[in-house]
Amino acid sequence: MLRTHTCGELKKKDAGKVVQLTGWVSRLRDHGGVLFIDLRDRWGVTQLVVDNKEEIYAPASRVRPEYVIKVKGVVKERPEGLANPRIPTGEIEVTIEDLEVLSSSPLPPFEIEGNKETDESIRLRYRYLDLRRSKMQKNLILRHHVAQLIRRFLSEREFLEVETPFLTKSTPEGARDFLVPSRLNPGNFYALPQSPQLFKQILMISGFDRYFQIVRCFRDEDLRADRQPEFTQVDIEMSFIEPEDIIQLIEGMMGYVFKESLGVAIETPFPRLSYDEAMEKYGTDKPDLRIPWEIDDLTELLGREITSFSRGGNNFAVKGLFFPSGEEFSRKKLDVLSQKAKESSLSLSWVKGGSSTLSSPLRSKLSEESWQAIEEKYPFGENTLLLLAWGEKTDLVSFMGGLRFELGEEEIKNKKPFQFCWITDFPLVEWNEEEKRWDSVHHPFTSPKEEDLELLGSHPEKVKSKAYDLVLNGYEVGGGSIRIHRMDLQRRIFTLLNLKEEEIEQKFGFFVEALQYGCPPHGGIALGFDRLAMLMSGESSIREVIAFPKTQKGVCLLTGAPSPVEEKQLEILNISLRKSEK
Ligand code: AMO
Repeated sequence: MLRTHTCGELKKKDAGKVVQLTGWVSRLRDHGGVLFIDLRDRWGVTQLVVDNKEEIYAPASRVRPEYVIKVKGVVKERPEGLANPRIPTGEIEVTIEDLEVLSSSPLPPFEIEGNKETDESIRLRYRYLDLRRSKMQKNLILRHHVAQLIRRFLSEREFLEVETPFLTKSTPEGARDFLVPSRLNPGNFYALPQSPQLFKQILMISGFDRYFQIVRCFRDEDLRADRQPEFTQVDIEMSFIEPEDIIQLIEGMMGYVFKESLGVAIETPFPRLSYDEAMEKYGTDKPDLRIPWEIDDLTELLGREITSFSRGGNNFAVKGLFFPSGEEFSRKKLDVLSQKAKESSLSLSWVKGGSSTLSSPLRSKLSEESWQAIEEKYPFGENTLLLLAWGEKTDLVSFMGGLRFELGEEEIKNKKPFQFCWITDFPLVEWNEEEKRWDSVHHPFTSPKEEDLELLGSHPEKVKSKAYDLVLNGYEVGGGSIRIHRMDLQRRIFTLLNLKEEEIEQKFGFFVEALQYGCPPHGGIALGFDRLAMLMSGESSIREVIAFPKTQKGVCLLTGAPSPVEEKQLEILNISLRKSEK
């Protein structure tokens, strides 16, 4: 080794030792002829001191930030009062006797120290420098630990890690596929897997009960802070189980992982909400339960009166959100909210509590009975506020859900840092108005609930599935289901989804065939590993926990991918580009 110790290792007990250290120059300070260099590596920072020895001071004063150097020196306890309790090596410094520059560096485009706010595109362009920052190192180290803990937890419970192909056929997760042309089979394409869904089900058919994989998935969809075109799942599948088995497994795993990596105790069991309940109370299927407020349905109470002065229409609803402490609602803020509602073709108004009376723009528009009912329903008082919104129900529900989430930001601050919940009883299908057909809410292999089977023909929208999502702090961090394991039921679902025989054969013929050869009842889940790592690190974008992420436009600013390819490469693949796109 070029070094005897790392930069995070030396303590008071090492005083007097002759050591050799390597690392990056993090900071340089010249205190009137005594030079201090902070030397950094993955493990920490050690302070080097160059006092006035001519033969070292001269070369040492020429090093610059981000130079890689090797030094030899003696460990000394720092003088009284000069220790730095914030770093593990803060009690010592190394007086150097020899210094060698191993490589130099131009001035970096941003400071590495201090994790100072830097434009993200510059960080991504120079990701290798960005990854030297302590925050990024911490995040990736945590990510590593979490992955190891998950592997250990699952392996100890007899789960087997099995790899599945990347060059494969399209998988049914509902996003667009990334395609890879096949040179050996001109005109044919592989699809990169959106998830290993069908392979893990086939592994169950093969008897590999208890499978897992920490695996990359690929989806060509619009990107957001919590969405990347390639991301990682903790993918799990088990045979001969009920939803309860998956729920308990995951609760146990989260408890273990949070305890071992962050030292945080996670309370189990996690609260469970049906999809309908979550939508009704929180306006979303991924509620952040740390926000205490619930949305009320006031359609019965106020619907009739409101439609007498405001547009009603099909599927009309009135919703309310009560704030026990509403002092932050300035007139301006309320106007902004009204404007927002208008943009979603909805209306918004409010009722402000006071010491004696309620004030509201609706004061004269609602009857005395309505006011009485409102007053009975809510504990109005000084600084209380009721937001009322109305319009088309589906839009209204998601508007109110968004409002609750946005306005709840302050509420979260002093709450426990991690709040999980399960969402269960999802609808099996949803109506696709554009295509005029039923689409799976999860994927076509999700099992309906037995008790709802009779509704499949008459009221598919009422059929619930055996699917469950795991939600953490308002983010969907996992989703799974019990699968269909019988061919007759699978065929009924395909028919409901309006899939034609040829389409089934072309898309999942291989899977349907496998399903006939003794398929055990089975089910599983996939956790969004990046989202989990993001929330555990306290970040708000998964790009902060991925070493080499892509931008919102799917571009890797470091490598410049995607990029044009040579004409010759296209020729070999038998591909020609349309003129306009060349
Ligand atoms: P699903 O599509 O719900 O289920 O994906 C599982 C979890 O993966 C995460 N996720 C993403 N994370 C980052 N970027 C993305 N683009 C992205 N898309 C999804 C989410 C999500 O909850 N095969 C099924 C699982 C199963 O049924 O077992 C599946 O992939 O956290």
